[in-house]
Amino acid sequence: MKANELRRKFIDFFVRNYNHKEIKGSSLIPENDPTVLFTTAGMHPLVPFLMGAPHPSGKRLVDVQKCIRTDDIDEVGDACHLTFFEMLGNWSLGDYFKEGAIQMSYEFLTDKENGLGLPKSMLAVSCFAGDENAPRDNEAYEVWKKLGIEDGRIAFLPKKNNWWGPAGQTGPCGPDTEMFYWTGSGSAPEKFDSEDPLWVEIWNDVFMQYNKTAEGKYEPLKQTNVDTGMGFERVLTVLNGAASPFETELFEEAMKEINTLKKSSNIVYESIIADHLRAATFMLGDEKGITPSNTDQGYILRRLIRRAIRYGKKLGIEENFIVKIADIYIKTYGDFYTDLEKNKSKILEELDQEEQKFSQTINKGLVILSKQLERMDVDESERNPQYFEENFFFEMFATYGFPLELTMEELQEKGWIRSQKDKEYIIEKFNNHFIKHQELSKAGAEKKFSGGLADHSEEVSKLHTATHLLHAALRQVLGTHVEQRGSNITAERLRFDFSHAEKMTPEQIKKVEEIVNEEIKKALPITCDEMSVDEAKAKGAMGLFESKYGEKVKVYTMGDPVNNTVFSMEICGGPHAENTADLKSFKILKEESSSSGVRRIKAVIGQ
Ligand code: ALA
Repeated sequence: MKANELRRKFIDFFVRNYNHKEIKGSSLIPENDPTVLFTTAGMHPLVPFLMGAPHPSGKRLVDVQKCIRTDDIDEVGDACHLTFFEMLGNWSLGDYFKEGAIQMSYEFLTDKENGLGLPKSMLAVSCFAGDENAPRDNEAYEVWKKLGIEDGRIAFLPKKNNWWGPAGQTGPCGPDTEMFYWTGSGSAPEKFDSEDPLWVEIWNDVFMQYNKTAEGKYEPLKQTNVDTGMGFERVLTVLNGAASPFETELFEEAMKEINTLKKSSNIVYESIIADHLRAATFMLGDEKGITPSNTDQGYILRRLIRRAIRYGKKLGIEENFIVKIADIYIKTYGDFYTDLEKNKSKILEELDQEEQKFSQTINKGLVILSKQLERMDVDESERNPQYFEENFFFEMFATYGFPLELTMEELQEKGWIRSQKDKEYIIEKFNNHFIKHQELSKAGAEKKFSGGLADHSEEVSKLHTATHLLHAALRQVLGTHVEQRGSNITAERLRFDFSHAEKMTPEQIKKVEEIVNEEIKKALPITCDEMSVDEAKAKGAMGLFESKYGEKVKVYTMGDPVNNTVFSMEICGGPHAENTADLKSFKILKEESSSSGVRRIKAVIGQ
């Protein structure tokens, strides 16, 4: 079965037979959820509707959603792990529940005419075993029994296996039932063993009936929903009797090209390259346009590109090659994902630049590293990172630009890192030297500026304070949907990205400026308190990217709670000015689009 045929068949099955509406899949960057970097499942864009808001297309939906998951990046190259994948899903928003969902899934899997025609004898399922939050799912079990699935092919498994969500830290979630297909030779064993990798999970029906709260409680949702996810690449693999997704048409042309370029063979490396460059192509070609950088989504993108280049070098590929592979993916996927064709020149240009920059770094770094390893004549069984000079890992980074994670991956492959402890040891050295280096350069900078000039870090602190005032003022003028999406501060200006769909009017810009300038005139004191995230929330502090914070967080307050003059309260690492008056004045230089649904403001102070 062809890829396009499978997508169409899935959608048509639900549209024609069960009255679902087809909806367009969303961007790889989730809207309004700063707790996750990527869309990891089809449910992200649908969270408000799972919580009870009416969806404009009705209660039964079907879609194909592109997803990114990088948690298992080290497993890529085996038979089933991918960083980018597509998920086929049907949805019930307060409509059918367990019985309906399971019946539809079973029919699609086994029906010869409308569905995939898979033999029942090759299928097995799992149901939720129950725990303190939710009971054992006998209801799902009974439906499977009624459909003729034997007891030996039904396993009850714990939360770790049979529970899905929430997609971020809080939100809709529930027990699920998963469907497996036997990929071994001959007939499938009578007893289903979920640990046997020959049983491949192909579909997951999630029964979303709970909302997980910030306190970790599971509250019943207003409505019971169904969220299903069928792994597109896995099913295509199974249907075509292929050993892995890399043998399907999705990767065929890319793998052929890698084969032509390589000087030595290693199927795992070849698959890693094919996987990572496919993910990178989709990230760059996404409607929200991710570009390589050193933070957030851009960092993950950069990391995937660099890993692909590095594995290319290992296969003896000397020339620049990643643009060629991306071009192949744009052709393979262009029909269904039209954004790829639209963004073609951006995708190829960014990849070309990254490769040019990184190739030089990596060539130098790999030579230095291998020379070092040659010098260290240590028996294989004895190898551990303590044999290296203490500053070695930091020097690789600081002098040769070789990222720590690459040094670690190289050392892991060569047996110098064997455990988590070894990794922690390296990271702690690295960090010590990094901090020492920062302190030294700070001391140097302070000396340089001691002639009465404005101190660099003071300017940055003041601009940082201006960012908080701006954030609070934007929420007053535009509404509380405004949330920070990014911030970048230099000694000269601040740059602030925030969620807001439309261009701001000149009046709105003026109003925001006025509010910030008023707060500067009020000369509000700025204080910093340490507290737990929960306490901070209870006090009404704004807090983004919570997952990055440790137990205790710093909360910066601008204004005096005693006089009721608090204007802004945010969880933030600092540093900040001592008083808003230090900023003198505030001016917006520019308001522009950053990406879809995100606006960007550049502003200055003290003019
Ligand atoms: N959201 C479910 C999953 O990703 C369907 O498996």
